[in-house]
Amino acid sequence: MRAALLREVDGPFELADLPDPDAEGRVVVRVRAAGVNFADILIRRGRYPQMPELPAVLGTEVAGELDDGTRVMAITPGSGGYAENVAVERAQVVALPEHATFAEGASFLLTFLTAYIPLTRQVRLRPDAVVLVHAAAGGVGTAAVQVARSLGARVIAAAGSTEKLDLCRELGAAEAYVYDEIPDHLRVDVVVDPVGGALFERALGRLRPLGTLIAIGFAAGMWPEIDPANLVGRNVGIDGFYLGRLLRHEPEVVGEAVGELLALWQAGALRPVVGAEIPLAEVDRAHELVESRTSVGKVVLVP
Ligand SMILES: NC(=O)c1ccc[n+]([C@@H]2O[C@H](COP(=O)([O-])OP(=O)(O)OC[C@H]3O[C@@H](n4cnc5c(N)ncnc54)[C@H](OP(=O)(O)O)[C@@H]3O)[C@@H](O)[C@H]2O)c1
Repeated sequence: MRAALLREVDGPFELADLPDPDAEGRVVVRVRAAGVNFADILIRRGRYPQMPELPAVLGTEVAGELDDGTRVMAITPGSGGYAENVAVERAQVVALPEHATFAEGASFLLTFLTAYIPLTRQVRLRPDAVVLVHAAAGGVGTAAVQVARSLGARVIAAAGSTEKLDLCRELGAAEAYVYDEIPDHLRVDVVVDPVGGALFERALGRLRPLGTLIAIGFAAGMWPEIDPANLVGRNVGIDGFYLGRLLRHEPEVVGEAVGELLALWQAGALRPVVGAEIPLAEVDRAHELVESRTSVGKVVLVP
């Protein structure tokens, strides 16, 4: 089978002919679409905390078909998704809704679970809550805007460039700003932060009493050191969320959330945003789109 192999940190991907994966008690998915996630970018740049051994086939999210033609989507922990075939634990395979395309299927599980579980299991969203979402036009961001909206919150979207703001409003944000133009006086109950760095620190200052900053990622750089005294004194908190660990240690929590999200998708309350579909052979271009901050929604590879 054809697969995109990463041989070394910072290297280009190589389209290689590899043996088909051994099922070994798992099911083999014929990949029709593979999601590009920011973790793949971090791995390629050697910045991911749990680096796989290289060479490796990256990609932790796919949609495709089983041998009997069943349409499925799946998270593939430990990678392997940037390929024509990938072996997946049966428990990780979820039926793709009839109305969904493969590209949408490869854009759903990882981003929506990452937005939905903290917003429903970690924070308590009052009906009139105000939620600020950073990188709101990105993969996790477009999911978070829609999830927070569907839970009844007033959503403020923030992104790196003005071109991204219309999409945020279309998805249900009441207001949308580029980061430097977020009004100084804005105070919020919850921040969903996939960005980290200086933006994370600034967002902490925007929390109302009893507010929570949900730390999801560090696309812009590592988190600053935070003194708990600053949290205690202001009645605010930081919650961390990492889907990979939850999948390993609390799979039933993730399974329950998948069921709830599928119901919301079927009801039309959510939709995965596919920003670009790119042939697997052009995986370098797909990574460039995400890394240069020009992508919106999810970038998907088509083998
Ligand atoms: N904790 C978890 O379980 C989990 C799960 C999934 C993803 N994540 C994390 O969540 C974040 C978003 O992931 P994603 O796959 O949905 O990616 P994404 O949001 O589609 O892409 C990353 C976005 O981050 C923003 N960004 C800000 N500073 C950046 C910088 N210096 N370099 C690159 N991007 C920068 C960009 O949006 P703007 O230009 O609008 O700022 C960019 O579009 C990543 O940090 C990822 O690692 C965590």
